[in-house]
Amino acid sequence: MDLDAFRALEPWCWRAPSAHNTQPWRLRHEPDAIQIGWDPARTLPAADPTGRDLRLSLGAFVETCLIVAADAGLRLEYAADHDERHRRVGWLRPAPDRYPTPFRTTDVWERRTDRGHLAGGVDQDTLAAVDAVARQAGGSVRTVPDAGRLGALLRAADRRLYADPPVVAELRRWLRLDPAHPDYRADGLTDRCLGLSRPAAAGLRVALAGYPALRPLGLPRLLAAAAGDPLAHGGTVLVLVAPEQLDEPGQVDFGRVLLRNWLVLHTAGLAAHPLSQLIDVPATRTVLGALLGVAPQRLLHVARVGRPTRPAPRSARRVVGARA
Ligand SMILES: Cc1cc2nc3c(=O)[nH]c(=O)nc-3n(C[C@H](O)[C@H](O)[C@H](O)COP(=O)(O)O)c2cc1C
Repeated sequence: MDLDAFRALEPWCWRAPSAHNTQPWRLRHEPDAIQIGWDPARTLPAADPTGRDLRLSLGAFVETCLIVAADAGLRLEYAADHDERHRRVGWLRPAPDRYPTPFRTTDVWERRTDRGHLAGGVDQDTLAAVDAVARQAGGSVRTVPDAGRLGALLRAADRRLYADPPVVAELRRWLRLDPAHPDYRADGLTDRCLGLSRPAAAGLRVALAGYPALRPLGLPRLLAAAAGDPLAHGGTVLVLVAPEQLDEPGQVDFGRVLLRNWLVLHTAGLAAHPLSQLIDVPATRTVLGALLGVAPQRLLHVARVGRPTRPAPRSARRVVGARA
């Protein structure tokens, strides 16, 4: 039965992206369906207090499961059934037909976040393609008209986040700055994925170990400066804009939109580097909303997008398949 056959495909489904690479999804196999839920120990209450990125990540996982199943010839569909109390977003269940998608498991496998140099930007056709995907769900994809202001906004957002001890403690929990870390190959953000040299990773480790005691000495400013200026590494900044009203199940749906868009970009030879801090910090979110002429609460995701200049390192996963 297709539900049983799906078990063997799970390692590829786990290639879905998630904020801080926490891989918050949880699958529970029941006789007639597979429940998709989340693990509270893998959420980000400090960095993502509203759960926006959790739900985007869960939606990205749902879409990845559907693509991987369809490519293997399995007939599965997704039925949303959001339940906060039981930490469930919905079910994968048998369907009359395969899920219709232009994407393949190889796209899921090859896509990766690229925080390095991105040449060029996004051409008009690709921009129209990602916008069309968002519009089918009532949203849109926009470029920032006054991109020159983004550098200062990013610095302000980084400084604000690094000045917040619970956010820094949470980030530290998911940083994997030393290959000897027991979870280096399982989850979180590795030094390699963050593009840090060995000395930079060691310096960051020391600085974070001294936090929050060193906080009054200007550590937030130092950490923000160490994060560098991603915008100096090229690319076009794209913003995913939600419809006027978007409830929690709607955010999961937009996680599916986000994944489809990342695969549209990937198949066009482009990669994305999310810059969520711009919308995590209320003050920078308000300025960005004003630049775009949309209400700040409609901003769902921001990323720098362009053509990779060399292959980005592959991120870790807790569940790996034969090819990993
Ligand atoms: C909702 C969401 C928000 C994210 N925000 C950021 C971010 O602000 N900065 C960043 O560098 N990466 C961000 N990422 C990328 C994740 O860190 C990345 O997906 C994860 O480490 C797995 O790596 P991969 O995308 O290469 O598979 C985000 C991903 C998702 C799904």
